Amino acid sequence: MSFLAINGGEPVLKKDEIKAWPPIDKIDEDYVMDSLHSPQHAFGKHFEAFEKEFTQWVGAKYGRPTNSGTSALHMCIAGCGLGCGDEVIVAAYSWPSSATCILHHNCIPVFVDIDFPTINIDINKIESAITPKTKAIIAVHLHGVPVEMDPLIAIAKKHNLYVIEDCCQAHGATYKGIKVGNFGDCAAFSQNQNKVLCAGEGGFFVSNNEEIFKKASLLWNFGETKAPYEKRDNHAYALGWMYTPNDMTCAFGRAQLSKLDSYLKQIKENAMTLESTLKDVPGLILPYVPDDCVSNYYNYTIRLDCEKFGFGGRKKEFRDKVIEALAAENTQIGLWQTFILPKMTVFLAQNAYGYGCPWDCPHSEAKPYDPEAYPMAQLHTDTHFGMTYPLRNPNGPEIAKKVGQAIIKVLENIKELGL
Ligand SMILES: Cc1ncc(COP(=O)(O)O)c(C=O)c1O
Repeated sequence: MSFLAINGGEPVLKKDEIKAWPPIDKIDEDYVMDSLHSPQHAFGKHFEAFEKEFTQWVGAKYGRPTNSGTSALHMCIAGCGLGCGDEVIVAAYSWPSSATCILHHNCIPVFVDIDFPTINIDINKIESAITPKTKAIIAVHLHGVPVEMDPLIAIAKKHNLYVIEDCCQAHGATYKGIKVGNFGDCAAFSQNQNKVLCAGEGGFFVSNNEEIFKKASLLWNFGETKAPYEKRDNHAYALGWMYTPNDMTCAFGRAQLSKLDSYLKQIKENAMTLESTLKDVPGLILPYVPDDCVSNYYNYTIRLDCEKFGFGGRKKEFRDKVIEALAAENTQIGLWQTFILPKMTVFLAQNAYGYGCPWDCPHSEAKPYDPEAYPMAQLHTDTHFGMTYPLRNPNGPEIAKKVGQAIIKVLENIKELGL
C-alpha cells in the first residue's frame, strides 16, 4: 500500500488548504479605492504618505518609494557615487538583481562564497576578494536572516568601502536590536508579490546620509534634483532613470504596512511551530539564526543531508525527488534559486551591454569568473527547499504543523521514492 500522495496515497493537506498571500481586507480596498478616485495618480497623497511612513517604520532618515527592489539597489550603487570599472563584492548566492544592479552602473560584481549555516556572504572570505578597484560590499540579508554587520562593517572601514544592504527580503529583521536598513550607507527593499510587505510590485530606497540620498534621488527621477511633488525645474543634472512608483501601488503598500507588525508576529509563531514539529527529525538542517539576529522568516529554508538517509548519489537528485513528493502532499514547498550567480549566463558570458561591456571597459580590471569557486553556495543550491506562503497570514500554526507532518511523512516513507 502506498502512503505518499505522489504514489496515490491521501495528501496531508487539501488542495487549497494553504491560503494565498497577502490577505486582503477593507483597509486595502479603502486605500486603493481612495487613490483611484483621487485626481493625482502619480506622486499623489498616498505616494507622499508612503514615503514618510515606510522610512519611519525602518527608522531611517531619508527614503524614496521606487518601482522595484532592483531599481532601489541601482540607486544604492549610484548613491555611493560608484562608476565604470569599480568592483563591488556580493554573495555568490542571491537573486540576480543583487549583482545585476552593479552591472546597471557599469561596475563589476565580484562574488564571495556563502557561509553555509546562515546562507549569507561568508565574512571571512571577503578580504581576499578585495582589490585596489573594490569600492563597496553588498550585504544581502537573505531569507530574512541578517548578515553579522559589525565584522562586515569593520572590514569595510579598514578598506574604505561603502556598505549597501540588500534588505529586499528582510523587512523587520534585526541585528543587535536594530532593524536592517540602518547599518550600511544605504539600503534597498522590495515590495513584490512574495515579500512580507507586498504592494504587487515596488521597492524602497533608504539612507541615513543626505549626500547619498541626494545622489540616489537624481537617478530615481530623470536626473532631476527635486522630487516631482516639489517645485521642479525639469532639468536633467545627471544621467537619470525613471524609478518612481504610481500612487495606487503606494496606497496598497500603505495598507499592508499598517498590518506588517502583526503579520511578522504571526509568521514567527508559524515558523516556531514548524520548527518544533521538525526539530528532532534526522537529516534535516533547519534555519540557523545567530543569537544577535532576529529573522523575519521570509523564506523558511531547510537543507537535506541525504547521506543520513543512506543515499550516496547526487544530492540534487535526492532533493528533487523529495520536493516532488512534498508538492503532491499540497505543501506549497518549492525551490528558490537553482543556479548560483556565477553560473548564470550573464556573468559567465561577461557581455552585459554587448562588446564585452562592462568587463572589457578600459576602466575595468575584471577577471573571468570561476564557477567552481563557490562550493558552499553550490552545496546549498543542491540541497535546499523552502516555503513562504505556508507560514504567512492568514495561515496559522495548524497549517505550519501540517506542513511539518507532510515533511516527516515523506522522509519516513523515502523508500517509496526509489531512493
Ligand atoms: C534578495 C533580493 N534582492 C533583490 C530583489 C529584487 O527585487 P524586485 O523584484 O522588487 O526588483 C529580490 C526580489 O525578489 C530579492 O529577493
